[in-house]
Formats: sequence, structure tokens, C-alpha cells
Amino acid sequence: MDEQSEVGMAKSIVAISGSPRRNGNTMTLLGWFLDGVRSEQCDAEVISAAFLELKASGCTSCRSCQKLSEYECVIDDGMKPVLQKIAQADVIVMATPLYFFSMSAQIKAVLDRMFSLYKWDNAAGTMRTVLTGKKLILLASAYEDAGLDALEAPFKLTAEYSGMDFESLIVPGAGVSGEIRRIAGLPEKVFMLGKRAAGS
Ligand SMILES: Cc1cc2nc3c(=O)[nH]c(=O)nc-3n(C[C@H](O)[C@H](O)[C@H](O)COP(=O)(O)O)c2cc1C
Repeated sequence: MDEQSEVGMAKSIVAISGSPRRNGNTMTLLGWFLDGVRSEQCDAEVISAAFLELKASGCTSCRSCQKLSEYECVIDDGMKPVLQKIAQADVIVMATPLYFFSMSAQIKAVLDRMFSLYKWDNAAGTMRTVLTGKKLILLASAYEDAGLDALEAPFKLTAEYSGMDFESLIVPGAGVSGEIRRIAGLPEKVFMLGKRAAGS
């Protein structure tokens, strides 16, 4: 047995924040998660969706990706390498604040541009995606606890549709940025989620 198979292959993890706040509650959650990942001698690529240079604010529905054999978006902007990293990762973490009972526009732009990671054949009624077999983890922060199921639904349904494992941790009680640090036991819980994601 070679060394790599003895210790297991390190997980490839990409973590995308959809918060426009660099040090807000969502990034705090992601920080604790990454501490857990690193405790397993693993690392993650961290991307702030809010600061990508984009030519399109979302998917333009041009459908050009459907004519390519590669799983790739034809729009050549800051989202393109993010999509490539998602396609290569074992674990995809999407972190978002709750905005009006839904995800932030910044993380929705990532999700919609992931259209290019699927191939549909409508005539044959088939779908293939490079996402199958990966794990999707949703981390989210919110002030109140109304709308948390609505926030989770598109991620959970996307994971089911794509044949991905899914896990989520949605944390209410975090109003202004920094407030999330006052929630007892939360850092340990998120740390363990990151540790499990890296180790499993
Ligand atoms: C545009 C906007 C919309 C929001 N909508 C909601 C909401 O519908 N429900 C809620 O509980 N909190 C809402 N919040 C509060 C944020 O979800 C919450 O403070 C979150 O922890 C902020 O994360 P951040 O520090 O990473 O920005 C909203 C905040 C903003 C700026």
C-alpha cells in the first residue's frame, strides 16, 4: 500500500462566502469551519463571491455551455475559475447570510452560473453533472428564525437533484456582524462540521 492510500486522499474543499462583509457573521462561521478542516491537516480554497470581477450578474441563459463537451462557462470572468474549482472539489461549502428569507444575491450568482456544470439532453430526458458524488455544505447566518427552511430548500433540492450529499448549519440569532460570536457552543459545533467534512 502506498503512503497516499494508507492515510487516505486529502479532501479537496472549496468554500465560497456570499456575504459582502469580510468580517461578518458568515465569514466567522466559515472561519470556524476552516479551523476544523485544518485540524485534519487539510485545507480549503476560500472565495468571496462578493468581490469577484464579473461580466454578468448571473447566468445569462445563453446555453452555450450545453454545446461544449467540458463542464465550463463560456463567460470569461471571475466566476470561471470558481466554477473550475467547484468542478474539481470533493466538498463545496456555500456560506450565506439570510437576505429577505433567501440566500444573498452574491451566492445565488454562483449557484446560477453552476448551470454550466450540467449537461441536459432534453430529447433523451437525461442530465449529467460533474457534481454527482460530491458533498454540498450550507452555512448560513440570520437574525431571526423565519425563513430558514426557505433558505435551505434550493441548496437541499440542488444537492438531491445532482446526486450530492448535503449537510447544513443555519444559525439564527445573529443580527449585527460579530453577534454570532456570542452564541454559546457554536464555534465548537462548526469546527466539528469542518473536521468531519475534511475527514469523511
Ligand atoms: C439585505 C439584508 C436582508 C436581510 N434579511 C434578513 C431576513 O430576511 N431575515 C433575517 O433573519 N435576517 C435578515 N438579515 C440579517 C442578516 O441575515 C444577518 O445579520 C446575518 O448574520 C448577516 O451576516 P453577515 O454579517 O455575514 O453580513 C438581512 C440583512 C441584510 C443586510
